Amino acid sequence: MITEILSWEASGALEKSARLIREGEIVGIPTETVYGLGANAYNGEACLKVFKAKGRPADNPLIVHISGPSQAEEIAYTNALYYKLAERFMPGPLTIILPKRDIIPSEVTAGLDSVAIRCPVHSVARKIIELSGVPIAAPSANKSGMPSPTTAQHVYNDMNGIIPLIIDAGACDVGVESTVIKITDDSIMLLRPGAVTPQMLSEVCPSVTISKAVLEELKEGEVAQSPGMKYKHYAPKASLYLVAFDGDEFIRLVRERAQSENCVVMCYDEEISSLDGITLLPVGKRNDIKEQTKRLFDLLRHADEIGADVIYAHLPGKSGEELAMYNRMIRACSHRIIGG
Ligand code: TXA
Ligand code: MG
Repeated sequence: MITEILSWEASGALEKSARLIREGEIVGIPTETVYGLGANAYNGEACLKVFKAKGRPADNPLIVHISGPSQAEEIAYTNALYYKLAERFMPGPLTIILPKRDIIPSEVTAGLDSVAIRCPVHSVARKIIELSGVPIAAPSANKSGMPSPTTAQHVYNDMNGIIPLIIDAGACDVGVESTVIKITDDSIMLLRPGAVTPQMLSEVCPSVTISKAVLEELKEGEVAQSPGMKYKHYAPKASLYLVAFDGDEFIRLVRERAQSENCVVMCYDEEISSLDGITLLPVGKRNDIKEQTKRLFDLLRHADEIGADVIYAHLPGKSGEELAMYNRMIRACSHRIIGG
């Protein structure tokens, strides 16, 4: 299969993507978080193609993307808290898990009786959903286990020859996947952190619990609240080490390692001048968490492209906006944490 990349602005591009999706094909589509692999959520066979294209385990359900909050009524049993959250965070990088209606095939939810719903704020994503006339099931458009794609080129690298079309709308704004929560009438369980932080959620509903799996990797035999939590994720081929030392200690450690290892260092912009002679992948300014989050997956992929064996990066903090990076990076590093 030839994989075509079309700019979202090209004449007829969005119509073509919507037609392919409606007809049961899968298409790489941009969202504000990461690129997705979109399929008609009402077509079980099309959704099975998504699992095959990614090499995704069959028990890990897909997120269904809608064009506006009220479209959730078609596919799920909503409640008052859903609409309170929708008012504040939709459209945007928040996914809400609700009891599913029968219209959603079991292929989408991997047999679960709940469905994950998200209304993206990216105008191209919403336009494609509207034009297709159906909700769109879409996981991140990477090969299973790889860092999620944040550019059309990343999608092409993983999906060339496997899908017919990728819509290119440039780099994603957020850079990590949406916040995933499961809700009851009056409580929220955070299953995956993203740009919508626990603090922001607690302003709408005071009862927010952070699932244990957000801060830790699951131990052997533990049951995951969200199937996706139990799989290896976001991992580059190079060995990622997270360094808890800061300041001079960080500089000293990576300088020493770089003498004997084929490594790259994900450093703050402010550290560039102290690390001359070392291959650097600057992450942005020390305090610019948004920029660091936006670049994260691109830099992990880039380290592999330039053939590094080892990557050194700062261990992110666990609070506020940093929680999403922390969660992705501890999964990508397979327990390789230095210091701290
Ligand atoms: O930002 C995003 O959410 C991106 C873009 C494309 O929208 N999508 C995305 O999808 O990250 P994916 O499939 O890579 O991650 C979906 C996560 C998985 O961890 C999955 O286990 C969880 O959501 N999930 C989906 N449905 C669920 C359900 N019914 N119950 C619990 N977890 C669910
Ligand atoms: Mg994913």
